[in-house]
Amino acid sequence: MRWHICSSKATSSPDTNVWYGLLTTRMGLAATRFSIAHGGSWGRLLLVVQLAVLVCGLPARSSNSDVPNAVQVAGDEPITPIPQPPAADPLKVKLGEQLFNDPQLSRDGTRACVACHDTRTNGAKPPASKLAQDGPESAFDALTVFNATLNFRLNWEGNFRTLESHTLSSLESPGGLQSPVNDTVTKLAADARTRSEFLVAYGHNPDPPSLLDAITVYERSLLTPGSRFDLWLAGDTTALSAQELAGYQLFKSYGCVSCHQGVNVGGNLFERQGVFHPLVARKPELVRVPSLRNVATTPPYFHDGSAPTLEEAVRRMAFAQLNRTMPDRDIAAVAAFLGTLTGNYHGHRIGDAP
Ligand code: HEC
Ligand code: HEC
Repeated sequence: MRWHICSSKATSSPDTNVWYGLLTTRMGLAATRFSIAHGGSWGRLLLVVQLAVLVCGLPARSSNSDVPNAVQVAGDEPITPIPQPPAADPLKVKLGEQLFNDPQLSRDGTRACVACHDTRTNGAKPPASKLAQDGPESAFDALTVFNATLNFRLNWEGNFRTLESHTLSSLESPGGLQSPVNDTVTKLAADARTRSEFLVAYGHNPDPPSLLDAITVYERSLLTPGSRFDLWLAGDTTALSAQELAGYQLFKSYGCVSCHQGVNVGGNLFERQGVFHPLVARKPELVRVPSLRNVATTPPYFHDGSAPTLEEAVRRMAFAQLNRTMPDRDIAAVAAFLGTLTGNYHGHRIGDAP
């Protein structure tokens, strides 16, 4: 399909273009399959735009940017900086945060969202959490809530299109808080302090729409700007070490960036896991490409949590998704680059307890 969209650019750089050609064709197929299976003109439009950008833009860019510099960087990279959180009513954000941390929201009063999404550290499940072992939730490794609202779909399977529908499911599902939303609202309304906080923020007693709204407003505030990579994107040439910069170049030249790009370095398309070689035995085969923002802070990796270190995840990615055996030196450089994607939340670095 690349030849139809932009045949003139496609011949520029021999080596990388072969890979991009191969990849984008595969991605085109995957995207088409997904569109057929799931419908939705918005999703289809996004994927088409995505593919056009990839097919036309990346090969030309990667062949031109072997030696990056600050001037060239701005506006000419396949990754864009994390923005500041959107303007929001501080009362609703505060109420949402409180609800996120409130075990009253669960059926038996024992767990809150924060039990699996520790916003004091990495927004994902603490490694030693007992919740990792029991119950149907263990089907998937917990995703971080940081920057989740920038993903085009939610969850590993990308089976939620809106934050509201996802939040409702987190409240009610067996893998979440297991409490029907009407029961939760009744509980919250019986608590004088919570009731008055809803009154102040929403002008009425808790009801399902205001409960969902408060949590989603809070989730939209969970952005992590200011990573060293974003500082470099903004023109600070001293923000990255030579090894990290080399890692970014490798990330582009190996072709990682064809699946992991955009503001979240992923999170904006569906791909098969195990394109050339098996990656994760467990289903699903087609997943939403995960975001690599703050990835150094969220081991273990992959939807089954089967890669304990970032280095192992990088090595397996190169082999399974790109049919490349990466030398250790390249793995170290790419992992170092991925470490520069760690941002900040409320003045602390993601992953470090404040
Ligand atoms: C028992 C652990 C657990 C609890 C409790 C829990 N989550 Fe999750 N959360 C997960 C797991 C596991 C995933 C990935 C699920 C999947 O992909 O199917 C996830 C995914 C998410 C995502 C999607 C992230 C992305 O990048 O797509 C968001 C947002 C989220 N949870 C918010 C919440 C909120 C809000 C609550 C409370 C109402 C909550 N979670 C409660 C384990 C949990
Ligand atoms: C063809 C698309 C594609 C390419 C190319 C690709 N990835 Fe991935 N990446 C994925 C998918 C899909 C997953 C999720 C796999 C799973 O768990 O099912 C993933 C997962 C990851 C993860 C784990 C994220 C997490 O939170 O668990 C890392 C790290 C990663 N990729 C890095 C890379 C690197 C480095 C490269 C280049 C060597 C690369 N990827 C190339 C699609 C791709």
